[in-house]
Amino acid sequence: MTCGCNLPKRLEAALDCEVDLDLIRGVLQHHHDQAGSLITVLQETQAVYGYLPMRALLLIAQEMKLKPSKVYGAATFYTQFRLKPVGKHLILLCQGTACHVNGADRIATALCEELKIDIGETTADGFFTLNTAACLGCCSLAPVMMIDGQAYGPLTADKARAVIKRIYSSERAVDGEGETA
Ligand code: FES
Repeated sequence: MTCGCNLPKRLEAALDCEVDLDLIRGVLQHHHDQAGSLITVLQETQAVYGYLPMRALLLIAQEMKLKPSKVYGAATFYTQFRLKPVGKHLILLCQGTACHVNGADRIATALCEELKIDIGETTADGFFTLNTAACLGCCSLAPVMMIDGQAYGPLTADKARAVIKRIYSSERAVDGEGETA
């Protein structure tokens, strides 16, 4: 697709997914002439879709009369924004100093192996997205991860794997395919 916005080639591929842009018409109508509201618009757009679809970023640029590069730059600069859909369960693995010195790297390796993804990716079944975060505010539990807002720690590699397995078991139990550990 050619959008006339001089997007890098690697980003044009992201335009392939279908997104209902009508869902953010109200947000844009409310803020369209307020260039200073870009972050608010991005926050409200993410609240609608759960992430920031590339098509939505282009529409925001068009409606707010901003360069697409400025909108994309803001969306990638702030850690609160996501450019990809997230899984049903969002894992935030702390990379703060206390967690780092207490072995956060080992937890990252265990989680990547257990989930068969890299940091920043979502499992093929859509259950988990694995991301990192700065200090989660519960350093006494270091090393710690947060899943759907609940903190788990202090972790070992085995404990981290066990948490993932437990959540998977719960999912299967809900589907009637298995039982909880
Ligand atoms: S450094 Fe990990 S919770 Fe503070």
